[in-house]
This record gives sequence, structure tokens and C-alpha cells, in this order.
Amino acid sequence: MAQQEDVFKKIVSHCKEYGFVFPSSDIYDGLGAVYDYGQNGVELKNNIKQYWWQSMVLLHENIVGIDAAIFMHPTTWKASGHVDAFNDPLIDNRDSKKRYRADVLIEEQMAKYEDKIQKEIEKAKKKFGDSFDEAQFRATNARVLENQEKYDNLHHRFQTVMNAEGGIDLDGMKQIILDEEIVCPISGTRNWTDVRQFNLMFSTEMGAAAEGASKIYLRPETAQGIFVNYLNVQKTGRMKLPFGIAQIGKAFRNEIVARQFIFRMREFEQMEMQFFIQPGTELDWFAKWKETRMKWHQNLGFGAENYRFHDHDKLAHYANAATDIEFHMPFGFKEVEGIHSRTNFDLSQHAKYSGKKIEYFDPERNESYTPYVIETSIGVDRMFLSIMCHSYEEQKLADGQTRTVLHLPAALAPVKLAVFPLTKKDGMPEKAQEIINDLRFHFNCKYEEKDQIGKRYRRMDAIGCPFCVTVDQQTLEDNTVTLRDRDTMEQRRVAIADLRGIIEDKVSITSLLKNLL
Ligand code: GAP
Repeated sequence: MAQQEDVFKKIVSHCKEYGFVFPSSDIYDGLGAVYDYGQNGVELKNNIKQYWWQSMVLLHENIVGIDAAIFMHPTTWKASGHVDAFNDPLIDNRDSKKRYRADVLIEEQMAKYEDKIQKEIEKAKKKFGDSFDEAQFRATNARVLENQEKYDNLHHRFQTVMNAEGGIDLDGMKQIILDEEIVCPISGTRNWTDVRQFNLMFSTEMGAAAEGASKIYLRPETAQGIFVNYLNVQKTGRMKLPFGIAQIGKAFRNEIVARQFIFRMREFEQMEMQFFIQPGTELDWFAKWKETRMKWHQNLGFGAENYRFHDHDKLAHYANAATDIEFHMPFGFKEVEGIHSRTNFDLSQHAKYSGKKIEYFDPERNESYTPYVIETSIGVDRMFLSIMCHSYEEQKLADGQTRTVLHLPAALAPVKLAVFPLTKKDGMPEKAQEIINDLRFHFNCKYEEKDQIGKRYRRMDAIGCPFCVTVDQQTLEDNTVTLRDRDTMEQRRVAIADLRGIIEDKVSITSLLKNLL
């Protein structure tokens, strides 16, 4: 566990050192849970967005995109339920004056019991070697059984308070914190306030005059921008059910516990698609979208074992099925994407609050109805983090040295080809520039002439550049270069004229998309 935490810390500093992610307003010491993407980060992020957008809009004839405004009419959020129910339970420690999410404190306590069990298992594994039988050990070891019982009791109590009739039982939650003797990590005391609900939406005012200004919200999800445009798109696009509307855009949540770098941010980006369907077909479409989205993730080649579905036991009142796609991050399996069967809740609510008829006339059934919706919702930043975590490697080389390399999927890498002149003379820089001038229209190229070739390779490995080309004396004679592969570090001599053909297919988003069909 500690080792994984170290790896994660290294990934965070690597992101800063190599221009992927910076703390926001860094010169003012940052702003909590807000981050900026640097020169390499923005390229990787754009490639992720392209991969998603094209898989939705190019590969599906019945999915179109929109780009709705961040500011929306305030009634939107009343209708969607966010004004009344988009809350987290929070608790303050009176001594440290620090604020926590009460549910997270309890989840961390459960994780402590799980850790204790895991430590016993690891110890026994080492002691007994190949003959170790984990199932038997779990069923008989006294310390494991004791911690398992504590975990099960806590889990049961937690589920009960979270699912209480009429919403979360806040008093029950505080009682758990007291009974479990959970202390504030800063002050070390148990001097807790009551648990209160805290709305996660940021608000601001629109309009100049104080009296005339109205309170509006920064959208906490992009989905509502799609719902309120359902009629516009259906009518102007003459869309027939089933059809989808996709959108990529910023969302804002005033997260109480903002941790784990870009995993939980206050300003983040979502890629959401609402798929409008006939009522009664939703469970089939839900299963289909689960499969489609999992395929999209696994297509990146990170190994099927690093993904899992987490089907929700407890559903929001408007949903009749929901699942998360979780990815194996250094801090455990974590949600990257949610897939939800949202019934006709959102469209019906907007119809009710706007007074507009929001329906679909089905020519085959000769009747009008409110479509049902399957939603796929993925965070760009979480996707970015999962890719960085999986790609980062500190590799021991045969000569005893270590190199840090990002094994990014070539189609997502910020720079696809780096071109180096071996020396800064004899026309080599000019030849290198010539190659770049020719290839820059097809993919992202970078020119580097500083330092020895070995150092230049390392810098390119660290940003995940899949190919490097060196221009040397021989190039000037026969128009060939050495082409070096990031992952194998193998070098081969190729003709400059062949470079585009060798590289382009491997680094294009199209190469990824083709595997999805
Ligand atoms: N419209 C449905 C919706 O917003 P969600 O599960 O709240 O559902 C969807 O969010 C996805 O958005 C999550 O799976 C996650 O990838 C991303 N996300 C949510 N909150 C986030 C945050 N604070 N920071 C970064 N990403 C976040």
C-alpha cells in the first residue's frame, strides 16, 4: 500500500515536472482541488476527448453532439433535483476547524479494517509460501475474523444510515463516528459537530444591479444542458428514436473532500451522452451501453484485469439500473465512468417546470410519449489520471541505469515524433527541420537539438513520445535516419520517405476507432 502511495506521489510530481498538470495559480501556492493542464497535458487531454467524441459521433449515425452553455436558467437545477438534493453530509472538528465528509470518514474506517486483514494475509503468505491457502486462513485466523466482524458490523450500520427512509440519517452517522472513536487527523480529537447536509453547487449572480441580479449556478453536470436541448435537437435534426446527444464540457462541484490530485476536483470536465429510447427497452440498451463503453476502455490495451463494473445496489429514485466502470488506480479500484438508466425522470421534470410538452411522436406506434434515457458519463480528468497511472514506469535497464517512461497509447501521446540532429552542424539541423516541415501536417512533431542524444531520448520517454528520429552524417548521404521505438528502445535505419507511412497509422485516433467496430 505504502509502495503504491509512493508511486502515486511520483506520478503527481512527474505530471508537474514534464508539463502535464500544474496546480492552478501555482505562483500563489495553488487553489484547492483546481488544476491547470500544461503543454503536454493539454495535448493528451485533447486526444482523450477526440477518442471519445469520435467514438460517439463518428461511429454512430444516430448520435450528434452539442455544446451547451455552462450557465443555465436557475429553474433547471430545481427541476433536476440538484437544488434540493445535491448534497454531501459534512462534519467539522471544533479543535482543528477542519471540515470532512462524514461518509468518507466512515469509509476510511472500513478501509482500515480491510488493511489490517490484508496485512495479516500478506504476512502469512510470506511465511507459508506456496502452500498458503487464503480462503482457509480467512476462515480461521483469529485476528482476521475479529477485523472482518468489525468491518461487517460497520458496513451494515453505514448502509442503514445511508439508506434511511426520507434520506441519510445524519444523527446516525454522527453516532457511528463517535462509536468508532474516529479522530480528526489534524487535531487528533473527537470534538465533532453534528453532521449537516452541504449543497455542492457553486452559485454566482447574473446581472449588474444588486436588486435585479438573479442567483445562478455553475453547472454540476453537463447532462442537463442536453436534456433542455432535447426538443431543439430532435426537431432540427429530425432525429428518430433511438438517438443520442453527446457533449464535452466543464462541470463544477464544491467538493468538501478534494484529494488524490485530479481524481476529485472542484472544476473538472465531463464527456456525457444521453441516449433517448422507447420506454420498456431501457434494460436492453443499458446492457448494450455497458458493453460498448467497457470495450472503449479496454481498447487502450491496459489489460482487462484493470477494469471492473460496480453495479449499484441502491438506486436514485429516478433510476432503474446503474453501474460504474472502475479502473485499478494506485489507490485501489475507482470510478471513472457511470452508466445510468434514468427513466423519463429528467425530461418529465423539465416538462413540468417549463410548462412545455417534451415528448416524441413515434410514427410506428402512432403515439406520443416521453422518451427514456440511458446516460454514459465519464470524467476527462479521471480518464487522464488512469492513463497516466497505467503508463508510468521506472524501468531498470540492462546497463544498471533507470529510465522513466510513459507507455502512453501512441494515439493519445502528446508528441508523436521527435526529430534530433546528431550535431548542430553540417546541415543536420536543417535536414531535421525539413523532416518536421513535411510531417507536421500529419501528426504532432517536436524538434530537439539540446544535449546528447541519450538525454534527448530520456526526455521524450518521459513525455511518452512513441517515436524518435535521429539525423546523422549518413542521412546527408542517403536520406535515411535511425527510427527509435519508445517501448523496445530498438533502433532501425529507415528512409525518410517511409517515415509517414510507418508512423501515421500507429499514432492516429482512427487506428483506435477501427478496433471498436
Ligand atoms: N450526469 C451524471 C453524473 O454527473 P457522476 O457520477 O456524478 O454522474 C460522472 O459523474 C463522472 O464525472 C464520474 O464518473 C467521474 O469520472 C466524473 N466526476 C464526478 N465528480 C468529479 C470530480 N469532483 N472531479 C473529477 N471528476 C469527477
